[in-house]
Amino acid sequence: VEADGTRVFDLRMQAGEKEFKSGQRTRTWGFNGDYLGPTLRAGRGEKVKVRISNGLDEASTVHWHGMHLPARMDGGPHQMVEPGGTWSPRWTVDQPAATLWYHPHPHGATEKHVQRGLAGMFLLDDDKARKLPLPDDYGVDDLPVIVQDVRFDGAQFDHGHQLMRNTGFLGDRTMVNGTLNPYREVGDELVRLRLLNASTARVYDFGFSDDRRFSLIGTDGGLLAQPAAMDRVQLSPGERAEIVVRMKAGERTVLRSFPQDNYGDAWQTRFSGGDDSFDVLELRAKASLRPSPALPGHLAEPEVPDGTDSARSRFFGLRMSGINGRPMDMARIDEVVTRGTAETWTVRNEDGMPHNFHVHDVQFRVLEVNGERPPPELRGAKDTVFVPGGTTVKLAMRFEGPADPDTPYMYHCHLLYHEDGGMMGQFVVV
Ligand code: C2O
Ligand code: CU
Ligand code: CU
Repeated sequence: VEADGTRVFDLRMQAGEKEFKSGQRTRTWGFNGDYLGPTLRAGRGEKVKVRISNGLDEASTVHWHGMHLPARMDGGPHQMVEPGGTWSPRWTVDQPAATLWYHPHPHGATEKHVQRGLAGMFLLDDDKARKLPLPDDYGVDDLPVIVQDVRFDGAQFDHGHQLMRNTGFLGDRTMVNGTLNPYREVGDELVRLRLLNASTARVYDFGFSDDRRFSLIGTDGGLLAQPAAMDRVQLSPGERAEIVVRMKAGERTVLRSFPQDNYGDAWQTRFSGGDDSFDVLELRAKASLRPSPALPGHLAEPEVPDGTDSARSRFFGLRMSGINGRPMDMARIDEVVTRGTAETWTVRNEDGMPHNFHVHDVQFRVLEVNGERPPPELRGAKDTVFVPGGTTVKLAMRFEGPADPDTPYMYHCHLLYHEDGGMMGQFVVV
């Protein structure tokens, strides 16, 4: 902490080696370690500064996914950090408690940098959320669950794309927090899981092996208005969900990803991994559990506009070849938005491939999915939304600024092979 109260974090991107399977060392990248990065945490109203150094032999960036902050602190493809270089973005946290994350964003190489292990969580807190009786003892009854799919070629990661797989990389097994075959012993009746899909292309439909119901309490940008009882929650790359699951003493259950049927046609579903199923994380309850208070009926009103005061609408057609027919161009500004105004963005899948849509700097409300009210997992604050084949979503968001006509934010498909291939555009706030 600096004299003026600024909370300072140090992140060093470095190459390393990690033993995922016993006796086999895999070459990896990580922040301050061999694989993934530390969980950063700050409160609303706090000033933060991150001192980043690049110990890799290639240039990269660090982007704060889900964070509202000035464009030049965003860590997008315009804020490259050269090998041996440093970068120290600073901003004031001004948004509700949420599960955000950070990862590199070098144009054309994001998939590779994330796959090698550069990703971590950035948790935000606020006074209202602190007062709610939610499981919030980090690492005890409040667990980060970073889900990635991987494939090994002997001891090393195999990042090859298979034939017919225009989705990008699809692994044949999953890891949680960089661990294969993970299990977790829990000692509380209620356990909160902060699920992050940090995979580069794979979509998961999370639920439990015994089909038990759980409470969805939060989405990308923070807590929901009220907990929603669910038995599945679908997350495409980049999306988060906070769920609370009730355990009984001595029992076991497995967080699993189930086959999905909403990718478009059966062929697309099959070749983009929608038929696959994975055991993701086993929870093992201790023989006796600490009692947890009941979940509150009301959590927090998501701070996202409802579309009624939108000053403008825009349309985004998603194709693998580019958004609105244009592949990403670092020198072209695609959209100019006005500081302080709300807008409605309509996003349509135009080629039937699975895509999603992520907007930097803002959280949005999903007003409609194919003209209908969205399901509970899309009713909170979101910064990324799945847009599978045959889908059109309508989003409402407000651009708070600050104005910076020279530095763009990005919007893009978060299937990183698509993003790298040009499914990205740039907007400035003026
Ligand atoms: Cu998670 Cu533009 O990024
Ligand atoms: Cu982002
Ligand atoms: Cu895509």
